[in-house]
Amino acid sequence: MSQPLLEAANVSHSFDTLLFSDVNFTLSPSQSTAIVGRSGSGKSTLLHIFSTFMKPDEGKVILLGHDLDILDDEEVESLRRYDIGIIFQFHYLFKGMSALENISVATMLSGEQIDHTILKKLEIDHLMGHKTSELSGGEQQRVSIARVLSKKPRIIFADEPTGNLDKETAELVMNVLLNYTKETGAGLLLVTHDESIASRCDSTCKLADKMLKEEV
Ligand SMILES: Nc1ncnc2c1ncn2[C@@H]1O[C@H](COP(=O)(O)OP(=O)(O)O)[C@@H](O)[C@H]1O
Ligand SMILES: [Mg+2]
Repeated sequence: MSQPLLEAANVSHSFDTLLFSDVNFTLSPSQSTAIVGRSGSGKSTLLHIFSTFMKPDEGKVILLGHDLDILDDEEVESLRRYDIGIIFQFHYLFKGMSALENISVATMLSGEQIDHTILKKLEIDHLMGHKTSELSGGEQQRVSIARVLSKKPRIIFADEPTGNLDKETAELVMNVLLNYTKETGAGLLLVTHDESIASRCDSTCKLADKMLKEEV
């Protein structure tokens, strides 16, 4: 049995009131899991906790073998630069730069080469010379996904990555993300409202009543 990419035990977090408690979760290599749940249930917060961007009130998170509670800033920076990929609903591209320059920034930082097959699969290879401000929302989203995948992350956290895309483009993006996990052994943890997107993952967990439960 291979080592899990992510292991969380008894994770709890509150803001003004308790958001969730006793969350236990494991993600293995090549595995894709969708987290579903109502708006405000804490899905994004949980994703931030799992991906080094927030500390929980209680509980343990082991990401790629590292206990997030005892990592120093340099180790967190290295995980973010080389090993974890984060995809948000609203991409954060550099507007004045071309699509290619945006992707190059990520590959230069991570020491990887730009993967042209990923650009082709995302159907954005012909857009590389365009400034990102001249691209449609869906094209910009796919450039931001290419930027994340080009650094060859070992685990991907995606918060509503298809939320602003039409059905066909959403399917295309899911195909690329799921193929990436199968080809590289990376894990994918994805938050979505969309049942048809969730059903394409290996498993689904629901955040409801302050608990995370696997749906069977
Ligand atoms: N930094 C914060 N400070 C205080 N409350 C927050 C903060 N971030 C999120 N919340 C609250 O926590 C709840 C869960 O938010 P979130 O994790 O974004 O839910 P979801 O992604 O499921 O819609 C919401 O009620 C939100 O207002
Ligand atoms: Mg959210």
